[in-house]
Amino acid sequence: MKLDDVVAREAKHFLPVVNRMPVALESGRGSRVRDIEGREYVDLTSGWGVCAIGHCHPELVDAIAEQAGRLMQTTNLFYTLPQLEVAERLAALSPEELTRSFLVNSGTEAVEGALKLAHRATGRRKFVSTTQSFHGRTLGALQVIGQAKHRDAYRELMPEQVAVPFDDLAAAERAIDTDTAAFIVEPVQGEGGVNVPSSGYLTRIRELCRERGALLILDEIQTGIGRTGRMLALEHEGVCPDVLTLGKGLGGGFPVAAFLCTEDVAQTVQPGDHGGTYVGNPLAAAAVRTTLDVVTREGLVARADTLGAALHQRLADFAAAHPDVAEGARGRGLLQGLVLCDADAAASLPRRALDAGLLVNVTAGRVMRLFPALNIPEDELWPALDTLLALVAGEAAV
Ligand SMILES: Cc1ncc(COP(=O)(O)O)c(C=O)c1O
Repeated sequence: MKLDDVVAREAKHFLPVVNRMPVALESGRGSRVRDIEGREYVDLTSGWGVCAIGHCHPELVDAIAEQAGRLMQTTNLFYTLPQLEVAERLAALSPEELTRSFLVNSGTEAVEGALKLAHRATGRRKFVSTTQSFHGRTLGALQVIGQAKHRDAYRELMPEQVAVPFDDLAAAERAIDTDTAAFIVEPVQGEGGVNVPSSGYLTRIRELCRERGALLILDEIQTGIGRTGRMLALEHEGVCPDVLTLGKGLGGGFPVAAFLCTEDVAQTVQPGDHGGTYVGNPLAAAAVRTTLDVVTREGLVARADTLGAALHQRLADFAAAHPDVAEGARGRGLLQGLVLCDADAAASLPRRALDAGLLVNVTAGRVMRLFPALNIPEDELWPALDTLLALVAGEAAV
């Protein structure tokens, strides 16, 4: 089948909420994907930060197939071993205070769960979040999202929002009060433009929340599972939240997310307070278990740290050498952004990159965000980066 056929057929039936790129993907392996016409691309987005261990990692494919043939779904009324093992592993990989977890199907659901917990634990209704933040697209998550473009169409359905500038302690100090249920923040803002806070920001936010009786929710849906060069980005500052959300890389490509909390918070809920048909689904749990195995065994957290540092350096060097096209580089581990000067050039970059055989994302208007698989081979990453930077510099004719 040709792309034109796909476009024409889909145009009749797909809800028009996405501006598609002109490519139909069919298969993937590692950091490469292939389209229906046989063309290959290097994926510098790892399926939106999800395929942390690469597309279709053979061990993950086998684990999902094995579990699918054993038990795909049950209700959460029953114990299952994959779910039990995942709960134990999530407790082991996070700060020791975070003993409890709950699996859900998407990041936004994890955020919903976190907000519900904060309300249950504090009895309060006010949430404080940060501008430019991204926390998902369901109504609860939209309540705390810091981007008007996602929220405004639905604002009448939501309470008044309190969002303070990211990395602004004085503003947080004014906003977090004794009515606040929780402050929710990403340790590094992903969709918001790969914004890394100043050292000490999260530590002080932690103290502030404690002083005012509010919970701290760290949204690590994008930063967790090795992405920033630590298993969890909170390790960069040694901060422990009351509630933590995980998603994306957690399932290596399988749609699954989780929220974790402390024993104190867990004691404020009762059976029936939360649930869902598919939550803790054995297939999803098996995917998480295997993804975590691969991340650990292949040393992908340390790799994200060292490879990310090298990538950051390359981007920073490029920006220094090309101040007319790039303002600078920022990021942690394998979540890196290059801030471009020109919004129009930034907007057209993903399409130009596609034509050059690369999948790349631009977020927050003009931040080229690179979040490849944590195991992307260097002989794929560096040539792809060369091509990309040549495009950015306007040097490559595609
Ligand atoms: C930090 C953060 N929180 C929440 C979400 C929402 O996750 P999902 O798209 O799986 O609902 C995202 C997705 O990009 C995210 O980056």
